[in-house]
Amino acid sequence: MNIPSGRARYRPVIAALAVAVLAGAGAVAVGKAPALAAETTLRAAAAKAGLFFGVAASPGRLSSIVSQEFGQLTPENDMKPDTIATSSGGLRNTGNADTLVNYAQTNNMLVRGHTLVWHSQAGQLQGTSQATLNTFIGNALTRWGSRIAYWDVVNEALDDNNNGRRRTQWPHSLSRDANGDGDFFDAGDTDVIRNSFRRAKEVVQQNNLTTKLCINDYDVEGLTVSGGARNNKAQALYDIVRAYTQGTERLIDCVGFQAHFNDNPNSVITDDLQANIQRFADLGVEVHITELDIDDDLSNNDIGQGQANNYRKVVRACLNVAGCTGITVWGIADSESWRSSERGLLFTGGSGNYQKKAAYSAVLDELNKGRSGGNPSSPPVSPSISPSASVSPSTPTDPSPCSATVSLNSWTGGFVATVRVTAGSSSINSWRVTAGLPTGTAVTNHWSAERTGTSGTVQFANVGYNGPIAAGQFTEFGFQGTGAAAGTTLTCTAT
Ligand code: G3I
Repeated sequence: MNIPSGRARYRPVIAALAVAVLAGAGAVAVGKAPALAAETTLRAAAAKAGLFFGVAASPGRLSSIVSQEFGQLTPENDMKPDTIATSSGGLRNTGNADTLVNYAQTNNMLVRGHTLVWHSQAGQLQGTSQATLNTFIGNALTRWGSRIAYWDVVNEALDDNNNGRRRTQWPHSLSRDANGDGDFFDAGDTDVIRNSFRRAKEVVQQNNLTTKLCINDYDVEGLTVSGGARNNKAQALYDIVRAYTQGTERLIDCVGFQAHFNDNPNSVITDDLQANIQRFADLGVEVHITELDIDDDLSNNDIGQGQANNYRKVVRACLNVAGCTGITVWGIADSESWRSSERGLLFTGGSGNYQKKAAYSAVLDELNKGRSGGNPSSPPVSPSISPSASVSPSTPTDPSPCSATVSLNSWTGGFVATVRVTAGSSSINSWRVTAGLPTGTAVTNHWSAERTGTSGTVQFANVGYNGPIAAGQFTEFGFQGTGAAAGTTLTCTAT
């Protein structure tokens, strides 16, 4: 099976959702704010906007609200290795998982398998070899096949405390940095992440599965953490996804931001959430918000409008990025959540008798606005995040070897720029973009390019994998900065 490249890889799911909606609701344009009545369930509103809205559940929580409100289902605990894996990588005790997959199939819901390779809840796999992990990956993937739309192949691979490192406990103790250069990406290195995705991709291809393969983590949601320091954990995840999507192997199809937002400085909702989603999407992977709950501490214990506004921010950030194709809340009601005391979900009540919170109404309203419905100047819709705004491109005179244009996501005091480098009528081997930044503006972070300089005139040159560009084709790099970037000038040169 050919693996579709780049952004095209997330189109089938969106298209499928769109077809389903159009068939049931008449000619409503996907991606536009609804012209007629708003949808009345999260599931329908999300489908109309071209994404899924899902929930984590167990068989004991499959009340009617699940299929009414949600279009996707993640087993909260029933597909974890401690439940279903034998010590030799076989399967056992799959009854609850089967119940959930069957329920989802009956109710036309997508399923996210959660999770294959994880240091926690590893059960009988704890401490095992890569070979046994690979056996388990094969058995789990083939048991449910394409009935599982997305699998979390690797979960929570990165260390805590914003140090940007991999975890060191098993299964990451299987990895080896052979040349000691600090990464696990080189040909001679052993990387449990790469090896697990390789095995999963092999199984998908050999069995012609449509299942997409995801990496999932927490505290990776923003470009920055509380106080504005770089989010090193997000950067480390980005480096992994880039390494395993932009090289010769395209191993990773999707990235999950768990989004358990709370008042830990590394776990807050930052204004650059959308920009971070965007830079992953720019790698050609689908981005999902996979385990969303929002601690009431982030709204001063207010589970009314305060929490509702936080939900709006998160949902709007996803809607504003075409490659953000799904949001999953980590449970139905506060009382049934893993963090019940933090009251972070969309419903109160329990045991099938649920009441909608203000956060529910906010999410529904935001979804009904669709992908183009964000209005940054009218609170409470993501007041500090502007949708992409174009800055005038450089105006090369033909025949130029290349041109550069920039899209900005700006907020008060900062911005993220995504720069597109397009080859002219001939292919190029390498490129350099010279950015003239306005006075008072400084670059704090960048990706997919080498950088020289911080303020004033800043040079960006290609890195190894994105230097060659065919005639008329493009690549993208990005940078983050403080100050305002409107007025930035760009010139592009190439060899
Ligand atoms: O079902 C048993 C019950 O019979 C027993 O009496 C009780 C005693 O403690 O335990 C119950 O099992 C608990 C299970 O949740 C079901 O409620 C486990 O102890 C408890 O450890 C387990 O917690 C789960 C946690 O993962 C384990 O790491 C949470 O439900 C689940 O929401 C949580 O999910 C994780 C994701 O997989 C990964 N990302 C973070 C997320 C939150 O921690």
